[in-house]
Amino acid sequence: MKTSEIRQKFLSFFESRGHHIVPSSSLVPGNDPTLLFTNAGMVQFKDVFTGKETRPYKRATSSQRCVRAGGKHNDLENVGYTARHHTFFEMLGNFSFGDYFKREAIHNAWELLTTVYKLPAEKLWVTVYQEDDEAYDIWAREIGVPVERIVRIGDNKGARYASDNFWQMADTGPCGPCSEIFYDHGPEIWGGPPGSPEEDGDRYIEIWNLVFMQFERDAAGNMPSLPKPCVDTGMGLERIAAVLQHVHSNYGIDLFQALIKAAARETGASDLGDNSLKVIADHIRACSFLVVDGVIPGNEGRGYVLRRIVRRALRHGYKLGQSQPFFHRLVADLVAQMGSAYPELAKNQARVEQVLKQEEERFSETLEHGMKILDAALAGVPDKGVLDGQTLFTLYDTYGFPVDLTADICRERSIEVDLDGFELSMTRQREQARAAGKFKAAEGLRYQGAQTRFDGYEHVQGRGQVVALYVGGTAVDSVADGQEAIVVLDATPFYAESGGQVGDTGTLNAGAVCFQVSDTQKIQNGVFGHHGRLSGGSLKVGDSLDARVDTERRARTMRNHSATHLMHKALRQVLGNHVQQRGSLVDPDKTRFDFAHDAPLSAQQIVQVEQIVNAEVLANQAVSARVMAYDEAVKGGAMALFGEKYGDTVRVLDIGFSRELCGGTHVSRTGDIGLFKILSEGGVAAGVRRIEAITGDNALRWVQQVNATLQHAAGLMKSQPSELAERIVLLQGQLKAAEHDIDQARGKLASLAGQDLAGQAVTLSGDSKLLVARMNGTDPKALRGLVDQLKDRLKSGVVLLAAEADGKISLVAGVTADLLDRVKAGDLVGAVAAQVGGKGGGRPDMAMGGGANLAALSGAMSGVEAWVRGRMDA
Ligand code: ALA
Repeated sequence: MKTSEIRQKFLSFFESRGHHIVPSSSLVPGNDPTLLFTNAGMVQFKDVFTGKETRPYKRATSSQRCVRAGGKHNDLENVGYTARHHTFFEMLGNFSFGDYFKREAIHNAWELLTTVYKLPAEKLWVTVYQEDDEAYDIWAREIGVPVERIVRIGDNKGARYASDNFWQMADTGPCGPCSEIFYDHGPEIWGGPPGSPEEDGDRYIEIWNLVFMQFERDAAGNMPSLPKPCVDTGMGLERIAAVLQHVHSNYGIDLFQALIKAAARETGASDLGDNSLKVIADHIRACSFLVVDGVIPGNEGRGYVLRRIVRRALRHGYKLGQSQPFFHRLVADLVAQMGSAYPELAKNQARVEQVLKQEEERFSETLEHGMKILDAALAGVPDKGVLDGQTLFTLYDTYGFPVDLTADICRERSIEVDLDGFELSMTRQREQARAAGKFKAAEGLRYQGAQTRFDGYEHVQGRGQVVALYVGGTAVDSVADGQEAIVVLDATPFYAESGGQVGDTGTLNAGAVCFQVSDTQKIQNGVFGHHGRLSGGSLKVGDSLDARVDTERRARTMRNHSATHLMHKALRQVLGNHVQQRGSLVDPDKTRFDFAHDAPLSAQQIVQVEQIVNAEVLANQAVSARVMAYDEAVKGGAMALFGEKYGDTVRVLDIGFSRELCGGTHVSRTGDIGLFKILSEGGVAAGVRRIEAITGDNALRWVQQVNATLQHAAGLMKSQPSELAERIVLLQGQLKAAEHDIDQARGKLASLAGQDLAGQAVTLSGDSKLLVARMNGTDPKALRGLVDQLKDRLKSGVVLLAAEADGKISLVAGVTADLLDRVKAGDLVGAVAAQVGGKGGGRPDMAMGGGANLAALSGAMSGVEAWVRGRMDA
């Protein structure tokens, strides 16, 4: 039975039992930064189990694409070394949301395995959770599995519920006891039944896990019951296919065999049993689907996991002798295998190929070099020795070798890696970088007081007491008129630069004292420094000051900042959920926003983003900011940046349809933004795009300028802006026609001139003539035409025409066929050009040249007759 048929039969079986077939969800879980990748079929139903979400059906079935690389379930390191580990696999599952429970789940599973897939019952074993008598009885009494093939598994991993038979999605989320079905691959293979000391062998293989979801684990480890007991099952498609296709290893099934052959074709490997081919076949699936789901190779979070998998595949290709990009060519083979079950894969083929190719090209530059460094280092390490942390770090930092890749290579040579040493090198580098950065930011300022109280969310004016003053990087007690200084107040409405938003400017006053604030920067975490100059009076620690933010500048900045949130959301709607912020700069003039996306935006996509944002602006929704626990914020759907560290409490900004964690200052209603306009879009690095956009009065000014330019242009064209394009097209046509007429007129003029000129020819010998003439103002092309004409007219002869325009000399020479044995046009032009400081050449019968020495032209031309006669007589 082919893999595709097994998948189909599973879904049809459950459909016939009232289950709704639900398509696989993305590998990137929607709005769930707690989970790296979708790692089971139940992930998309997580909120349905907990009762937060309801669906129009109570039973579902799916074939879910899963990745287990990084996070709680991580199999990356085992891929290629075992018969059954994958980074990517498909999980067949059936789900009950408060509908049926253990009995029906067990009966269904048994029936599918023994009657549809026709597995011999005597080859099946089952396990149940130690305390689960109910499941035990169903298996023993109702199904009739002999008790010697039912195994109870307890909390065998050291803690309550830490058991092979208690399943949980991640550290938090729905969980419950489970019952697993095993297949006995037969005595020729080593291994013992589940729960026995030999259980890790390959003889008894788990094929299906039936989870009886009953609890939801929270971050504190509490496990309240779910509103209703549910069922979540998972059967690895590749495993069941191996059983049904009578192969022992998953890599023996039809789908993998096709990919292994393709990998051999692309790497030139001849041994189809080579483990490296398995690794490549596995990895092309994970990498392609991750790209389909919007992940782009990068240096953090999901992007880094993808990069590690790609690089691991490339290293195995290199091991097989392939050092050129090859991996992306396997995408087509994958589409042939899985494209019909996953239309999103087929649809994105070209994009996936392009992303992988780019990543391959990037790494292949350093792979070879890194391998040489590693080989040299390994040569000095004895068998079963340890590779030092510094080499691991150099390979990582300079050659882009992820640590697990180096470890993978070392493992093949029975060498361990010093991970602690690596961490030490990492920490050292991070500290050096931080020390360098901190020094710059804080300018070496000493400060030990309390943090600044920021009231700038509510006010743009306030009163604060000076708690510290700095001049030239040193703490001082007072500042004199005219001095540059940094002022720290106990409380301030000035926003200090952070989260991409620039610091405020304004004034600090008390009577005659006026301190002009040109920037606000944190001098330490939570301590705001007002940078500027004292322009009246003197200032001392302890003074009380009125703080006034430049409200116009702040208002512009806020408009740009709030618009950035709306744009971020709109980009995700238009381009997909892979769009994630990579950096931003918000100041009074614009917002500059960098985000992950791997292709230029089309003009239409830009228009769409503008429309969506401006619709939110027009809706004029009130903006709200709430401070709450991080977990609560994320549960509420706030967009948190993956891999970003947040404190326990965060500020959640609701602006129109967007919800983000943000500490910046924002408008009160979306309508305050005024108008949002994108000015430019471009690439800044591989997979990262940048948009610059404007709002409010900046946008109005821009519109006015564009309009003024348009009006001016229309005025010049004596038309209306709306008719301008039509006018331009019309004029272009007229211009072309006029140029054509001019060309023709020139030809005619030249022909007339030709007639005159022919009369000026002198006789060389017999009927052969020589004509040397100057035709100022004629362009080289017309000059050529004229030489052709004159050759025809003279019938036998030599012609040399010269023309002068803009200080440059053009020369054209022609020789009729009968004289070619004696005179060559190229030689003639060359001889004349040399005298006017230039060069020339061409065919024997027609040649062109030029020069710039105008003064020498007459002399050169009068020498032509002698030169030609010399050749004729030779
Ligand atoms: N969610 C269960 C598993 O992944 C079925 O094993």
